[in-house]
Amino acid sequence: MKALVCGGAGYIGSHMVRALERAGHEVLVLDDLSTGHREAVVNAQLVLASLLDESRIDSAFESFRPDIVFHFAALSIVRDSVADPLTYYRNNIAGSINLLASMRRHAVSSIVFSSSAAVYGLPSVGLIDESQALCPINPYGSSKMAMERLLAEAHVAYGIRSVSLRYFNAAGADPEGGIGEAHEPETHLIPNALRAAAEGSPLHVFGRDYTTADGTCVRDYVHVCDLAHAHLLAADYMRHRDGAHVFNLGTGRGSSVMDVVAAVEGVTGRKVEVVYSPRREGDPDRLVATHARASDELGWSPAMSDIESIVRSAWKWHAQRNY
Ligand code: UFG
Repeated sequence: MKALVCGGAGYIGSHMVRALERAGHEVLVLDDLSTGHREAVVNAQLVLASLLDESRIDSAFESFRPDIVFHFAALSIVRDSVADPLTYYRNNIAGSINLLASMRRHAVSSIVFSSSAAVYGLPSVGLIDESQALCPINPYGSSKMAMERLLAEAHVAYGIRSVSLRYFNAAGADPEGGIGEAHEPETHLIPNALRAAAEGSPLHVFGRDYTTADGTCVRDYVHVCDLAHAHLLAADYMRHRDGAHVFNLGTGRGSSVMDVVAAVEGVTGRKVEVVYSPRREGDPDRLVATHARASDELGWSPAMSDIESIVRSAWKWHAQRNY
């Protein structure tokens, strides 16, 4: 299969490129390197282009003639989306519209879309399934919800098949090394906790008065390689299945911030100095998903997503990272 990977120089996208290459597929990466890294694209050809530039997208379709699109290209920092919703809507929605329009022009009819747990907002249930109401509480989540909706409508209107994968907390790195999580600035818990362990600097823990067992937020951490594997299964699923589908990608298990700190201390053998800080605005107490639908329909189950394996792979990346 010939796969166009938009956002393939980013964290999850670069792991997807590797999964596709390992499975013997041909890959073209399209990325504007606004948040991605050239070094993360090791073998595949990279087209340096933004999804806001329709003519560059068209050229990529014309020269590469993909069978399928994997779409990871989005801005994803919740706090920034609140500060600048126009930029988030332009990138995440207008850019995606350009991509879909180009797909139509070039008769490409399958797309796997990166959605997010952020579409659920502040869910009231302990274990989230796909029937939960969508109620995003920030522009980032709204942009993902809007795209899911558009994909459903694009199926009815144009016959475009899609699978939207709602990631819970993507984490970890390819155990074989060379690629990993590298955001600037880094806002995510696991890389921040690893840096605190490595440098002996404090980790700010945002809130200890949540209604959870230890008072810190609970999240469902999923290994980035498990996420990539789900995309391969989704591509296969669409070969036989028409429609616009959505699946949660979570493990069904939650880890609190302090569980993560304990795992980081265990893996690194170093103490993490914790400084309790005020709650970060918009953080739900608990976000944990059932992946029953993804298991039943796609045959997906997370194989590497126990918190220790996640932290171990992330620590290896942290120690050798080159970008
Ligand atoms: N946290 C800290 N200290 C830090 C960083 C994070 O205490 O230095 C806490 C957060 O407050 C939160 C938990 O660790 O309780 C996890 O935070 P992350 O920033 O790692 O991840 P989020 O759950 O906030 O965000 C993730 C994705 C977003 C997505 C969101 C959906 O990164 O893209 O899930 O809710 F929108």
